[in-house]
Amino acid sequence: MRDIKNIEEFQSKIKRIIITEEQIKKEIEKVGKQISDSYDGRPFLLVSILKGSFVFLADLCRAITVPCEIGFMCAKSYYSGTVSTGKVEITMDLDRDISDYHVIIVEDIIDTGRTLKYVAELLKSRNPLSLKIVTLLDKPSRRVIDLKADISLFTIPDYFVIGYGLDCDEYYRNLPYIAEYDEMVE
Ligand code: IMP
Ligand code: MG
Repeated sequence: MRDIKNIEEFQSKIKRIIITEEQIKKEIEKVGKQISDSYDGRPFLLVSILKGSFVFLADLCRAITVPCEIGFMCAKSYYSGTVSTGKVEITMDLDRDISDYHVIIVEDIIDTGRTLKYVAELLKSRNPLSLKIVTLLDKPSRRVIDLKADISLFTIPDYFVIGYGLDCDEYYRNLPYIAEYDEMVE
């Protein structure tokens, strides 16, 4: 059985909040408006890359005021602690043909770029009408693959972050803000 973290241990790893709920909300409103303006009248599909982007997707889709559809895909990036190994696996795929849609990939964070590169190439091979990438967070200093989001809400330094959908060992996704994870605390 899995060990359950106690509350003291859970909280001790939350080093400091780097992006507040208010800051996230404000940026999402802007991006929701931008997407609504650009995609109004076009068939478009938001593709949420699970699990990390589920909170962002939930808020982003409610900031979009024009008709849109939503799909989910689960991409598992294999990690060794807080370091990505570069291995990506699609553990759940979309349930429809995307060739009649303008697709917007909704991602939580671009770190090395490997996950999104893999997902974007896979979706491109299915011939959508167009393909764009929206990411909540971008860590450009960590990139090993040349990949840029079309819209990025926040650029952050090389911190391992948690909250607002992002996890460390599956915990902390339920924090309403983005915080730096303290790797030093035992
Ligand atoms: P990439 O393939 O290295 O770009 O990593 C992308 C995936 O790794 C994201 O979708 C996240 O699930 C995870 N990831 C990368 N950086 C962080 C972080 O700072 N905190 C939590 N998860 C992260
Ligand atoms: Mg993750």
